[in-house]
Amino acid sequence: MQFSDLAMNLKASEIRELLKLTTMPEVISFAGGLPAPELFPTEQLKKVDDAILTKDGRAALQYGTTEGYDPLRKQIAARMKQAFMVDCNIDNITITSGSQQGLSMLAQIFINPGDVVLVESPTYLGAINAFKLCKPEFVEVPTDEKGVIPEELEKILAKYGDRVRMMYVIPEFQNPTGITWPVERRKAFMDIVNRYDFPVLEDDPYGELRYDGDKVPSLKSMDTKGNIIFLGSFSKILMPGLRIAWMVADPVIIDKVVKLKQAVDLQASSFGQRQTSYYIDMFDLDEHVAKIKALYKKRRDLMCESMKQYFPEGITFTYPEGGLFTWVTLPEGMDAKELMPKVLAKNVAYVPGGPFYPHGGHANHFRLNYSNMPEDRIVEGIKRLADVLKEELAK
Ligand SMILES: Cc1ncc(COP(=O)(O)O)c(C=O)c1O
Repeated sequence: MQFSDLAMNLKASEIRELLKLTTMPEVISFAGGLPAPELFPTEQLKKVDDAILTKDGRAALQYGTTEGYDPLRKQIAARMKQAFMVDCNIDNITITSGSQQGLSMLAQIFINPGDVVLVESPTYLGAINAFKLCKPEFVEVPTDEKGVIPEELEKILAKYGDRVRMMYVIPEFQNPTGITWPVERRKAFMDIVNRYDFPVLEDDPYGELRYDGDKVPSLKSMDTKGNIIFLGSFSKILMPGLRIAWMVADPVIIDKVVKLKQAVDLQASSFGQRQTSYYIDMFDLDEHVAKIKALYKKRRDLMCESMKQYFPEGITFTYPEGGLFTWVTLPEGMDAKELMPKVLAKNVAYVPGGPFYPHGGHANHFRLNYSNMPEDRIVEGIKRLADVLKEELAK
């Protein structure tokens, strides 16, 4: 049997492999990006399913259009206005099987082998993996505590010119750092994008999960030239298992995505799209999001307070205004991946920072998730982690 070059180069996602280890109930896992399952609206979903089958009957089980279920696209247009300050209509929207599929398809649409893709340094590991299959040259754009540094981006664009085919950013509660770009940064960024004219993927699965501070306008809401492609998802505000997400872009881009999706999976699940749409009609999604926010805020506070209390000096971490993650920085020279066995031996897990950089390095970081573990386990996990860190620092 002969596999293709692509298949030969496939590597299991480090996060997915780690998640396998951490499903054991005794492990306090801060590793995945999993929502709190106790908030999944199971009782409501039973009512939703019943309503779908009573009202739509077999149509709900039939193939649907590739663009997506129209009532859901209309609801998303309304949500884009309400939550992300974006005016759009259903011609700008297509439904995807998770945002992950959106990332994968957009890479295929924009990247030929050797083309330059710009990413924040660090960035979402799942995006690196999706883009990698198209064999780009990754260029990491330096970031600080306010996100992408405009002057650095400009230098990179001047250097790589037309070879830059797209940029990928997460301006809101970034995965992995939890950082949010302030409005001035966004304006400076958009000014550069408009001058150089290149497609930007604005990935925003966490934007609605803000726990404090003021809402910041999305890049898409500032886009006057159709350069921004916005990716939204129901994974973190409803449930990830349905795999329902969306893309908002210029109709020319949507048309390419739809044609590609016809080759990839024909459409997102007819039933899953209806479950999402009926849920929004029958229940109050805003109220549900408010519940999620209240719980995650408590967990974020607890994790950050516990780190402050128990971590030894010399270790810093971000205090995110929303989202699911905080990013820990160890003193230079320490290696979070090498520490993993010691941490796992105490039945605690995190994701080491290196894989969030396409060119590796940066071993002295790790990512912690605070949405998934109950409060008592957050405190216990941070204490155990602190013990390992103290031992290492004492060496
Ligand atoms: C930044 C980012 N983008 C995309 C995704 C994928 O989300 P979805 O479940 O919509 O595929 C994730 C998942 O954690 C993420 O963190």
